Amino acid sequence: MNKDYRHFTDLSALSSEDLRQILDDACARKHRLKAGEVSRPLAGKVLAMIFEKPSTRTRVSFDVGMRQLGGETLMLTGTEMQLGRSETIADTAKVLSRYVDAIMIRTMEHDRLLELAEHATVPVINALTDDTHPCQIMADIMTYEEHRGPVRDKLFAWTGDGNNVLHSLMEASARFDFRLNIAVPEGSEPSQKYLDWAKENGARITLTRSAEDAVEGADCVVTDTWVSMGQEHRARGNSVFQPYQVNADLMARAKPDALFMHCLPAHRGEEVTDEVIDGPHSVVFDEAENRLHAQKAIIAWCFRA
Ligand code: CP
Ligand code: NVA
Repeated sequence: MNKDYRHFTDLSALSSEDLRQILDDACARKHRLKAGEVSRPLAGKVLAMIFEKPSTRTRVSFDVGMRQLGGETLMLTGTEMQLGRSETIADTAKVLSRYVDAIMIRTMEHDRLLELAEHATVPVINALTDDTHPCQIMADIMTYEEHRGPVRDKLFAWTGDGNNVLHSLMEASARFDFRLNIAVPEGSEPSQKYLDWAKENGARITLTRSAEDAVEGADCVVTDTWVSMGQEHRARGNSVFQPYQVNADLMARAKPDALFMHCLPAHRGEEVTDEVIDGPHSVVFDEAENRLHAQKAIIAWCFRA
């Protein structure tokens, strides 16, 4: 059935062509915004934003992005909703679909997102789950290409915890056809399910225990917190992750013009040192800005606007 809307659940759920179209649109919208042009294709539309975990960037960039598109937002926190008192996701999806025009959710188990998408009759956007963070990676690919051109065949290196941001980066490596080295300590590997999907879809991924090996000759070095929100049970202790810290010595193994990326918030002195995150390779605030532009294009894609 050709619905008049689409969900943005995961990079694996979209074709390479759709993802590329979204990035092209994000760049065009960014340029038009900087040129002072106003376009309000979503006037009269309301986006409900459900947060079951904290957020700074996602919350503000979706809110501002929806307003720039002419729409409005409704901020909902899980604890203040009946969702926090065991109302089902399915019932919540059906009710919200009677009021609002789209739903964005940041939640825990990935199945909560998928269940919401299954039962909603308006677009659903993944704003982070325990498993994935696709909006972040769309902003990151956009950022890489703004600085260095097409991402295809480039070498990305991930070092640290095998978490939700990495899973989306793995999906992106298949969809955008770049190489990806992953260095994680034993017990912090990315989920086999995401690894299998990426490899079955042509991703060129190499797993190693050595951050030095992973970063050698890389075009882009990426890391994230060693303990994700709600994942405290997976915490390994800083000493386990210390060899995976992105510091000046590790960064020196990458290409001289390599970029450094981090979705933020950063735990300075843990997964990254000040000299790297504040240094010449770092594009972390460009990534944060591009969340706004990429998500406006994602929202527009969902509405076919
Ligand atoms: N990177 C990111 O999603 O940041 P927030 O948790 O602040 O939204
Ligand atoms: N991996 C982090 C990303 C935060 C934006 C977390 O899930 O907490």
